[in-house]
Amino acid sequence: MAESSKPKEQVVTPWTAQAGEGEQKIDYDRLIVQFGSNRIDESLLQRIEAVTKKPAHHFLRRKVFFSHRDVPDILTAYEQNKPFFLYTGRGPSSESMHLGHLIPFLFTKYLQDVFDVPLVIQMTDDEKFMWKDLQLEEAHRLAYENAKDIIACGFDVNKTFIFSNLDYMSCCPAFYRNVLRIQKCVTCNQAKGIFGFQDTDCIGKMAFPAVQAAPSFSSTFPDIFGDNKDIRCLIPCAIDQDPYFRMTRDVAPRLGFPKPALLHSTFFPALQGPQSKMSASDPTSSIFLTDTPSQIKNKINKYAFSGGRDTKEEHEKYGGNTEVDVSYQYLTFFMEDDERLAEIKQVRLEGTAQY
Ligand code: TRP
Repeated sequence: MAESSKPKEQVVTPWTAQAGEGEQKIDYDRLIVQFGSNRIDESLLQRIEAVTKKPAHHFLRRKVFFSHRDVPDILTAYEQNKPFFLYTGRGPSSESMHLGHLIPFLFTKYLQDVFDVPLVIQMTDDEKFMWKDLQLEEAHRLAYENAKDIIACGFDVNKTFIFSNLDYMSCCPAFYRNVLRIQKCVTCNQAKGIFGFQDTDCIGKMAFPAVQAAPSFSSTFPDIFGDNKDIRCLIPCAIDQDPYFRMTRDVAPRLGFPKPALLHSTFFPALQGPQSKMSASDPTSSIFLTDTPSQIKNKINKYAFSGGRDTKEEHEKYGGNTEVDVSYQYLTFFMEDDERLAEIKQVRLEGTAQY
């Protein structure tokens, strides 16, 4: 096959998520192999339920969170009454967040509830300034706008710290010190290999990953953890953020800090189908938290990929495909009732409804 006619491979980076050419959805099993992470299997699910003494969140049961690094170590530490903390974040690039942005935060809320641990939330206004066509003050404003949506998830007010990088970097010496320590451990070649930076990229991009890495270490937050430099960290995030934390885990032992553990989620599918993720930069792919019920209904009716067959006859003969049916996929994220979901799945599979 000529080089140019080869099907394009799937691409998953912090900036792009696109299924391979001719593939209907992103292949997450392939990502586990490619990234070298671990599948969340039945035995880990059972262990989480045993340790938390609660049923596992439906995101775990339904494999929305499907991959991890070192989660058993966190569970063991918890059983031994050793402390750990949660860390997640958001790059504030749009006025309002969309449904996909909510997934890690809803899951983090569950984790904070069952483990009763501190949580830090990084708003990367500095990152969005560097990557997007945004003024600094505008990126900072969006961080505060998005923080309101995040706060609405209902985190424990006494155990949660939300910060804008622009603000916190200028008032917390410990943060910048850790950023510098991390920057010294990573060469340009390594950063290019991990993130695909080009020589034409501005140098700010190359420096940023250390800023996203630093909150994985408890010594970045002396106001919360005092002198304690070795409190473990668990990071719930979408799988596309893994490159940042592969880098973090690589440098941690050299700095004398524990490696952060991770829980990885799949992407929230675009309205157009699970070949790509919901993206704020394409409003026709997204349902925003500010959309009204009637706007949402219109978007679903107008854009949502149904997984239907090409003709009515074929659809009635072969039925639907719930793997790619966006309306059904959205229900797997938001409908907690397993029985009702199974009923809807059956109807969609039989292809007798809504085509
Ligand atoms: N880079 C992430 C984004 O663009 C934001 C982020 C910062 C983050 N720290 C994180 C996400 C930790 C998950 C976990 O959205």
